[in-house]
Amino acid sequence: MIKRDRQGRADVNVTAACFVGTPRRPPLLWVPAPVEVLITQAQIRDRVAELGRQIEADYHDRPLTIVAILTGSIVLLADLIREIQLPLRVAVLQASSYKGATTIAGKLSINEDFLPDVAGRDVLLLDDILDTGHTLSTLVGRMSDRGALRVRTAVLLRKIGRQQVQLEPDYCGFEIPDAFVIGYGLDFDDDYRHLPYIGVLDNG
Ligand code: XMP
Repeated sequence: MIKRDRQGRADVNVTAACFVGTPRRPPLLWVPAPVEVLITQAQIRDRVAELGRQIEADYHDRPLTIVAILTGSIVLLADLIREIQLPLRVAVLQASSYKGATTIAGKLSINEDFLPDVAGRDVLLLDDILDTGHTLSTLVGRMSDRGALRVRTAVLLRKIGRQQVQLEPDYCGFEIPDAFVIGYGLDFDDDYRHLPYIGVLDNG
């Protein structure tokens, strides 16, 4: 159960400037099971725009390659790059530790077949969520091995109290409670990625 304030806003924090969002009813969409909205579409839009401004300020004089981690970061990638008014390159790799209808992580598998040369470039690894930290910390190492000049990380979400690996994301949208979340690219058994908000499956 997600904690909410008196206005019905979920208990999530932004890590940078104080965030005040207006909760809105999610649009009606077909979903396989009831979903409790944790972060609204408007809150995500505003925060992604803020992250874009920060990234723009930090990379105005550096050759940036954003490396998005498939599949969960696709929606974030599409929205974020349109908030960054800089020359930049976009690349993808795939990393997955969840298979099928489970919320328990298994072995991490990585596919770098589509990754272009990142040697000598600044890499910003982009992921949907920082949970235990194993995925991002492994991939930071992989980018360094490939000769990236400087490797930074950006995530939309960070789960509180779950991290097992020490890694401080350079950009983080929201800190959230420990719940399995879906929507805005995040899935359960490959469903729900299209939802424009972040939600928690209501299994009750
Ligand atoms: P780690 O534990 O390596 O996990 O930081 C990062 C990857 O695990 C997936 N993940 C989730 N996917 N809802 C999801 O749909 C979740 O609540 C969740 N928690 C972790 C995600 O793919 C991320 O890249």
